[in-house]
Amino acid sequence: MPAQPDYTLRSPDGHIQVVFSLDGHGSPFYSLEYKNKVILEPSRLGFLLEGDPPLDRGFFVTNLERRTFDETWEQPWGEARYIREHYNEMKLHLQEESILRRELIIVFRLFDDGLGFRYEFPKQPNLTDFRIADEQTSFDFAADHLAWWIPAYQEHRYEYLFQRSPVSSLAKVHTPLTLETADGLYLAIHEANLTDYAAMVLKGAGGSGLECELVPWHSDPEANVVRIRAATPHRTPWRTLQIAERPGDLITSYLILNLNEPNVLGDVSWVRSCKYIGIWWGMHLGIYSWGSGPSHGATTANAKRYIDFAADYGIEGVLVEGWNIGWDEGFLNSKDAFDFTTSYPDFDLEEVARYAKEKGVRLIGHHETGGDVLNYERQMAEAFTLYESLGVDTVKTGYASTLIDGVEWHHGQRMVRHHQEVVELAAQRKIMLDVHEPVKDTGLRRTYPNLMTREGVRGMEWNAWGPDGGNPPEHTTVIPFTRMLCGPLDYTPGLFDLTFQGKNPKNRERTTLAKQLALMVVLYSPLQMAADMPENYRGHPAFQFIVDVPTDWEETLVLNGEIGEYITIVRKDRHSDDWYLGSITDENARILEIELSFLDPAVQYVAEIYADSFDADWENNPHGYEIRQELVDSASTLELVLAPGGGQAIRLRPAIQSWFLQDVGALEASAPGG
Ligand code: NOJ
Repeated sequence: MPAQPDYTLRSPDGHIQVVFSLDGHGSPFYSLEYKNKVILEPSRLGFLLEGDPPLDRGFFVTNLERRTFDETWEQPWGEARYIREHYNEMKLHLQEESILRRELIIVFRLFDDGLGFRYEFPKQPNLTDFRIADEQTSFDFAADHLAWWIPAYQEHRYEYLFQRSPVSSLAKVHTPLTLETADGLYLAIHEANLTDYAAMVLKGAGGSGLECELVPWHSDPEANVVRIRAATPHRTPWRTLQIAERPGDLITSYLILNLNEPNVLGDVSWVRSCKYIGIWWGMHLGIYSWGSGPSHGATTANAKRYIDFAADYGIEGVLVEGWNIGWDEGFLNSKDAFDFTTSYPDFDLEEVARYAKEKGVRLIGHHETGGDVLNYERQMAEAFTLYESLGVDTVKTGYASTLIDGVEWHHGQRMVRHHQEVVELAAQRKIMLDVHEPVKDTGLRRTYPNLMTREGVRGMEWNAWGPDGGNPPEHTTVIPFTRMLCGPLDYTPGLFDLTFQGKNPKNRERTTLAKQLALMVVLYSPLQMAADMPENYRGHPAFQFIVDVPTDWEETLVLNGEIGEYITIVRKDRHSDDWYLGSITDENARILEIELSFLDPAVQYVAEIYADSFDADWENNPHGYEIRQELVDSASTLELVLAPGGGQAIRLRPAIQSWFLQDVGALEASAPGG
């Protein structure tokens, strides 16, 4: 008897094992173990096609290729500079036994932090133009794990509070989907390299497993409609399963990036991260309007005021929303209203761009489509060219609507293709992007480094007008472990007036001020917006932290954390020897002990600490904070005392000699009795 072929693949460290198999009908399956524990039972692979027989049975393996890859690559900007890409790969070539003899390739890659697998449809006579009715990939977990989820196909896209419940209770949810197992593992299902396909939604069926559902072309998810239009050769995004023993290790897993293609833009020295402020929060509070009128926010004079503030404090960028015609029509579902090249009469785009340049400030442009994408597509080449001609090198785009052009979901193939077109168009003009109401991030920033950040989260703005009053204190202790796993997020932290007058009396920010500072570190965005208005920042001692905190990192470490409770992240500045720490808690006060062993042992550091005051709490005293300094080194332990809804932000800078004397002098002077 011939030996049974071995379709087993192991991760480089040997801890993860995937086994591919064909059942008695020639249907493909895969299963997965971690440290000899079954994580996935044999789970389905394959496709239902529209107008063609399914591509999920009657297969035999014609060829098996294996390889190992181990290289370290450098991010042009990011949360870590160097990323090791180390995997073992198994590529299975399948062919149907039937008369059609169609071929399908399935590629598995195992890293030490998880699995990626994708399907490839090679060019072949009996599969040319084809349409996918659905993908049958499933994740049949061995137990009913707890999931952190947001619902799919809803009015507000990805902008929901995460809920926690067993997989068996899930209907249709977005990815990344983070799971906690009873025996202390943390798993995340997501996808990587989504370029010409629909996003994957996960569908529960009452058990411990989940199935892939591709977002359909038209807006009825129940209908048996076309989900993918393709022609061979074609390939799917990678389906991913990350595995960690500590929840924080999901955050420092770069598997999603590793499953994307290297940079195709060549020299990207023009791509630069930055902090920015914006004519923005005032609109969300109703102080300014986007449209014309007496409270129009985007006037030439106001833009110059923001630019002056940014220049005074060394904030690199200023966003201006509401400068172009179209807002008066009401932007939700307005048709053909937005004109992306004509400004309101009280806003002189050329003059504002000139002034920003003179002051050394990056003007950040804005394209809000209101979901009227056909209108945008007619104008976008010209609109990007206008910005390019004025030296505006960064654009925030927006797709605020439930459906695109009244028919399509934000996450189907239609919009994936649209975003791909926008990123290429912007890259040709050396323009960087911050995408709001996006398709979820799947790591494309590796290939297109100008695609810097996105929203796709229930961000700060919900505090201004969310009908439920705003984001609860735990929200920002959940999203680092869920939404942030897919990539940078433009949450827009850094609010200083926490008890503002919102749309209704319940609206407010539910954190302390020190937590706002900590969020500048915890929530990673290479374009990081400090949300508040200049009048709330100017002269405020705590604003120094926002001035100092970088947006480009050499290294990121998650020191501790529990999903929905607390998290402490430290990041090393890519352009100095400074480290920055952000620690946040939910509604519970807590004390966290932090060892500073990550610091260079040969160096002493000054810790500039922005902490909750002893009587601070998000509800009754959110503005209570204190700033103090301590000398520390890699043997030190810090005790972080976090108020209810509080946080702590620390800059750790080397106490180099001349500064050191000054630092010690300052410390001695500030010591009790000093
Ligand atoms: C929603 C975006 O998230 C927000 O940042 C923007 O101000 C509005 N749309 C208007 O474009």
